[in-house]
Order: sequence, then structure tokens, then C-alpha cells
Amino acid sequence: MVELPEPAQFIDLARYPVHDLADSRTQALIARCRNDLETQAFAVLDDFLTPQAVDRFWRESMALHDLTVRREAVRSAYLDTPDQEDTSFPEDHPRRQFFRTWWGVVADDLIPDDHGLRALYAWEGLTAFFSEALQVRPLYRHADRFQALNINVLNPGDEQAWHFDDMDFVVLLYLTTPQGGGELECASLVRSDDDPNYDDVARAFEGTYEGLRRRSAKAGTLTIMRGHHSVHRVLPVEGSIPRLTAVLAYDRIPDKRESDAINIQIFGERVRAKVEGGFNRG
Ligand SMILES: [Fe+2]
Repeated sequence: MVELPEPAQFIDLARYPVHDLADSRTQALIARCRNDLETQAFAVLDDFLTPQAVDRFWRESMALHDLTVRREAVRSAYLDTPDQEDTSFPEDHPRRQFFRTWWGVVADDLIPDDHGLRALYAWEGLTAFFSEALQVRPLYRHADRFQALNINVLNPGDEQAWHFDDMDFVVLLYLTTPQGGGELECASLVRSDDDPNYDDVARAFEGTYEGLRRRSAKAGTLTIMRGHHSVHRVLPVEGSIPRLTAVLAYDRIPDKRESDAINIQIFGERVRAKVEGGFNRG
């Protein structure tokens, strides 16, 4: 019998045998993920984590709650700020719709080495599985010491407004089940590299786009997401439980890091002394 690495025990391997890519069930799972990514831009693996891992990750993540950096932004779905408004578009055009987003984030460098998520993210076997599901070979974990592994914290009332992701792909792991709200709503593949398809983007904002899909956040669920062509949002969180999501970042190139200026902008002055000391250099 093959000895499994420690992080594999966090995963329901009977349902998702990601540790063995040659297993026919894993091959079927990879085919399903590829199909879901092609047709709806995200693949959802319900109950990916075992109940024990959900418990542990929740406990370890809530212990970091006070380290959350609060963020607030007013921006368009294209990530423009109001001062970048392009008035050559009509006033009601999607390019000129601005939305308020507010949420929190725990930076990678604040997640301790003994946090279960850290071990799970570092496990090569998981990266290899995502590489197959995304058909990105090779696939590298992001190298940025602030951004590679984050915990997004949406407290009750927080929401993430409509946007297209800058990055090509990301993996989300839900750590809590909100009492209400907090659904991911996604206008799947509404645009392409060749066609911005503003009419359907406008329909997505109005809720009338046919390809609009909504998924509740449930603790233990894993979502592989390609959000660059699919405008999406997270609805306001209701109840008293924060919506915690681990964000696992990957890239096509090794040793990918963001600029110091961007990290200071995102994570605050705390990181300035660290980056000036060379903390995030290769
Ligand atoms: Fe996004």
C-alpha cells in the first residue's frame, strides 16, 4: 500500500482520489473538471475536505481573524476606479458602472507553518491534480510571500461586487458555511478575448443573462475557477458567521511575485518594512 503524504488526509480521498492521477476515478474527475471549466468556467468539488479538516481549518483560520486587513474599493467590473472612467462609452454602459466592494484578507505571511492549509497548499500532489484539471502544464504555485495563499474574510454585510478576474485561474476552498447570502454568482464565459460582449455583461448586471449561475458557499467545497472571461460576484453575507475562503494562487511561470508597491497597497504599511528588508525577493 502506498503511504500517503500528510496533507492527503485532509481530502475525502474515497470520493476524490487526487493522490493517484492514474486511477480511473481520478481520470473521470479530471475529465469532469475540464468539461465544467470549458462550459461554465468553474468546477465545483463538494465536500472535498473531510469533516475533520473542515473543523481544523476553521479553528486555525478563525484564530487569524484579527490579522485580517480590511479592504474597500469602488471599481468597475473591469477593475477601473471612478477616476479612470472612460466617458467615450454611454453613461449606462457596463464600462461605466461602478460598484462598491468590501471584504478582508489574511496575507500569506501571516498564515503559520503549522496551519493545515499551508501543508495542503504545499503538497505537490494537489498542484499536479490542478495542473491536469486546468490543462496548464507545468503549473506552479505562486511564489509571492504575501499573495500565494490567502484567506478571504467576508464578515456579515461584506460583498464582492461584479468583476472579471485579472488572473487566468484560481482555486477557492470554502472554510465556512454562511447562514445566508455569500453565494458566488457567475455569468459564465460572457466574454472572450475577441468579443467583450457588453450587451450580455449588462444583462448579467440586471440578472437576465441566460448563462447566470449561482452557487452557495459550503464549508469543505473546492472550486477551480477561470474568472477572466466570466463576470462574477459574491452576494452580501448574512447572519453572524463570516464567510472564510482560502485562495490558492497558481501561475504558468515559476517564481511569480507581485511588486512591493502592490503588496503595500493591498496589505498595508505592515509589509513595507518587510519588503524593504528583502522579505519577498527570490
Ligand atoms: Fe474573482
